[in-house]
Amino acid sequence: MESKPYNRRQFVAATSAGTLAAATAPAMTAPAAAHRTASKLAVRGGTPIRTQGFPGWPVWDPQRDEQLVLSVLRSGVWSRAKVVSQFEQQYAQLLGAKRCLATTHGTTALITALNALDIGVGDEVLVGPYTFVASISVIFLSGALPIMVDTDPETFLVNPDKLEEKITPNTRAILPVHIYGLPCDMTRINAIAKKHDLLVVEDACQAWLAEIGGKKCGTLGDLGCFSFQNSKHLTCGEGGAITGDDDQVMDRAVSYHDFGRGGPRLGSKCRMTEFQAAILLAQMQRLEQQTQRRWENATYLTSKLQGIPGIYPHRLYQGVDRAAYHLYPLRYVAAEFNGVPRDRFLTALRAEGIPCTGGYGRLNKAPFMEHTLSSRNFTRMYSPEQLDHCRAQIECPDNDRLCSEAVCFSQRVLLGTKEDMDDIAKAIIKIVENREQLV
Ligand SMILES: Cc1ncc(COP(=O)(O)O)c(C=O)c1O
Repeated sequence: MESKPYNRRQFVAATSAGTLAAATAPAMTAPAAAHRTASKLAVRGGTPIRTQGFPGWPVWDPQRDEQLVLSVLRSGVWSRAKVVSQFEQQYAQLLGAKRCLATTHGTTALITALNALDIGVGDEVLVGPYTFVASISVIFLSGALPIMVDTDPETFLVNPDKLEEKITPNTRAILPVHIYGLPCDMTRINAIAKKHDLLVVEDACQAWLAEIGGKKCGTLGDLGCFSFQNSKHLTCGEGGAITGDDDQVMDRAVSYHDFGRGGPRLGSKCRMTEFQAAILLAQMQRLEQQTQRRWENATYLTSKLQGIPGIYPHRLYQGVDRAAYHLYPLRYVAAEFNGVPRDRFLTALRAEGIPCTGGYGRLNKAPFMEHTLSSRNFTRMYSPEQLDHCRAQIECPDNDRLCSEAVCFSQRVLLGTKEDMDDIAKAIIKIVENREQLV
């Protein structure tokens, strides 16, 4: 159930009196109340809540970080060697995993993980559609079929209640995506996997140091995969990693990522360079402190946004110790804004000086789905019945709705101060109070 401390009638009464900010007390603070008089929305020519920017990304320490990269340059050893190994050891330790393998991207980490677990042609992999395209495309690229499981709109994550009904004799694995760094309900997911003898590959590409039940995301399934692309909290421009505890499986991953060397299996090549690892070692120094700051700011922001009609902050699952917040998501419910579409709200919020986006699109309806299912490869690998079964799972109504309701703030915004969070809340409340100007 959504928490709604006061109902719609109270809201209309409060807003018509122009006192929503006061009505949301104690969540609202004095600075927010001060803006009640500036009621003309910035999108209508009023004064924006905020004109100064938010922190930029990426950040680095010119002395220490540049020194680490320079020393790789000057060593003349640029392909995978000891700096990559050093990164792998430190990242495994940071996460509490037995092993870590660095790769070129999050995408190649996922492909390598699926290969190491022998997931491929004939297999079905359960996955939620509210994610970045790579979570789905890697399943197809491995020759397996992605079976869509609808999203829980309150949490933005795969709905554990809807997993079991999608299991068939062909199901091999679940690929939970901790999207935006919000931990999936891994207790339920792992219990379902155990009951049905399924593998679990965590897409933790946005979940560095997120934690649930005392364990870090990426260490809760059979393998965990991470991305270090430019926007990511731990970044070297492009990069990835796999974490795991099973030596045999990890040895297969190592072999696959290096042409199949050291084993009998066919492999590919996705080895990290020494430059990437040097930057990651430098970035890793700041990761814990930055993660904690995002977590504290996000928790504070949620407390400020509770109870605003039509605005629903995401819900975290029980047992979450910390979310990583690659983005901070909330839902804008147009029906509570006289049907004004979400995009007008986004435009108004940006005009108030708050950078925001609408999050992911309907990946379950992306053209590549049907294109792949009817491709030469897939029609030769699968029976028409199995392909139709995959097609039939594409309808995810909760996800479709979520894609038109989401409002997201980027991780760099959450690196700001508490006053920055106050500005976000003030801007939202200003728009809610003056929502008739959105039309
Ligand atoms: C959820 C998710 N999965 C997979 C990937 C793929 O990672 P990369 O871009 O490093 O290949 C990303 C990267 O954006 C991601 O956000």
